[in-house]
Amino acid sequence: MEPWFFLLLSLSVCVLIRRIFFSLHTKTTTATPPGPLHIPIISNILWLTKSFQIESILRTLHDKYGPILTLHIGTSPVVFIRDRYLAHQALVQNGSLFSDRPKALAAAKIITSDQHNISSAFYGATWRTLRRNLTSEMLHHSRVKSFSGIRNWVLHTLLTHLKSHSQSNNSVRVIDHFQYAMFCLLVFMCFGELLDDGKVRDIERVQRQMLLRVTSFNILNIWPRVTRVLFRNLWEELLRIRKEREDVLIPLIRARKQNQATEEGVVSYVDTLLDLQLPEEKRNLNQEEVVTLCSEFLNAGTDTTSTALQWIMANLVKYPHVQERVVDEIREVLGEREEREVKEEDLPKLPYLKAVILEGLRRHPPGHFVLPHAVTEDAIFNDYLIPKNATVNFMVAEMGWDSKVWEDPMAFKPERFMKDEGFDITGSKEIKMMPFGAGRRICPAYNLALLHLEYFVANLVWNFEWKVPVGGDVDLSERQEFTVVMKNALQVHLSPRI
Ligand code: HEM
Repeated sequence: MEPWFFLLLSLSVCVLIRRIFFSLHTKTTTATPPGPLHIPIISNILWLTKSFQIESILRTLHDKYGPILTLHIGTSPVVFIRDRYLAHQALVQNGSLFSDRPKALAAAKIITSDQHNISSAFYGATWRTLRRNLTSEMLHHSRVKSFSGIRNWVLHTLLTHLKSHSQSNNSVRVIDHFQYAMFCLLVFMCFGELLDDGKVRDIERVQRQMLLRVTSFNILNIWPRVTRVLFRNLWEELLRIRKEREDVLIPLIRARKQNQATEEGVVSYVDTLLDLQLPEEKRNLNQEEVVTLCSEFLNAGTDTTSTALQWIMANLVKYPHVQERVVDEIREVLGEREEREVKEEDLPKLPYLKAVILEGLRRHPPGHFVLPHAVTEDAIFNDYLIPKNATVNFMVAEMGWDSKVWEDPMAFKPERFMKDEGFDITGSKEIKMMPFGAGRRICPAYNLALLHLEYFVANLVWNFEWKVPVGGDVDLSERQEFTVVMKNALQVHLSPRI
């Protein structure tokens, strides 16, 4: 036998033995969670193209592979967890391990100013500073209270718009009004100014175009040097949208900066960002990063809340007996006060209203997944390896629809929350549903979101009777946008109650 042939044969045998040994070894101790056959490159692209149907595919795959599984989407493995106990084990019991975010790829880097916002920052000092700034400067009780005047103003503007429709006898498509109301509210909290209608609509336009297009830019994350050339128009669209966002938000930030010294009254989100120091980089935020953080604040607080509001109102139209029970409860609390407004102070006295909101969030969570998580280091979890480069996500909607926890889970029954008045939405002891996530990355504004939902739902049903238009219906089918929205937007007929 020729020596070169002998050498090649020996090498091949060595590689084969090593492979067999390694695969046996990984199967017992360090295999990633199971999943369908992975063909490199082909699977990665295939799953990316199916990202809009991923939830229904995952349901079938979980039935086959169990509560934790791996898919190879885009450039990295993605681990999905369906089971609420495993979710608690990961997010709460091992919170410091599972609270990282994946490294941003080409498109996400542009959108997030290279991970300088709360939702995409790595689990570390920058994230802690940005998150603490939001919670301690904007979301603590007294600051939230300082915005009650603007909530009242936005409510009355919304009621006036709806009233003009109610008089015309036509049906109203309410989602546009809800979105606009939430933008007015969050824009004021962000910039501390009551802007005219045109400016608010401008902000709404630039914010929503980024939100609605964001998943289309995912393809630019695969081999960016190649896809940037192949999909040049898409890349240019991303840069244009980013630029338009800056063109609209920068003048507002500058105006706030100039007026900061003289301005009395409310503290806005921009004010809190202007002097903020990044601890790792030992510098203030630059203008682009302030835009990104304002943009995050606006989108996080408007799309989620108006989506939830639409789902809740849809159920109140579909089930008039639930609507009437909310109205009866309000009537009892308001007593002799013949007022148009349910005040914020009245809300804690309305447990059935609270149950309606919780049931809305359980049955129709605006996000069916949380934002992508990652582990801070390679981890063994439930006997599987979760590699550091993997993305980890949780099936939020499935947990809220688990028939082992919720009787008749697809029905809308707020009464189920009346038995458990102190229901813990944060899932800190046990996860029964997690519309705001759980653990260290839980939505920092869940209390504000609940306040907005309770205040608006109470006042909307107190002021109008919400009915299905003649010949119409309430269709609860879903469609994936940035959040999971009603496929056919809610159309209603409104009759003033007062
Ligand atoms: C009904 C309304 C809302 C829902 C359902 C909701 C839901 C969520 C969810 C599921 C997450 C991801 C949690 C995770 O990754 O584990 C999140 C994160 C976040 N939300 Fe909300 N949210 C709502 C309203 C708001 C509002 C009003 C604001 C701000 C004004 C806000 C700001 C944020 C921020 C900054 C994060 C990122 C947190 C982090 O990464 O540390 N959200 N939210």
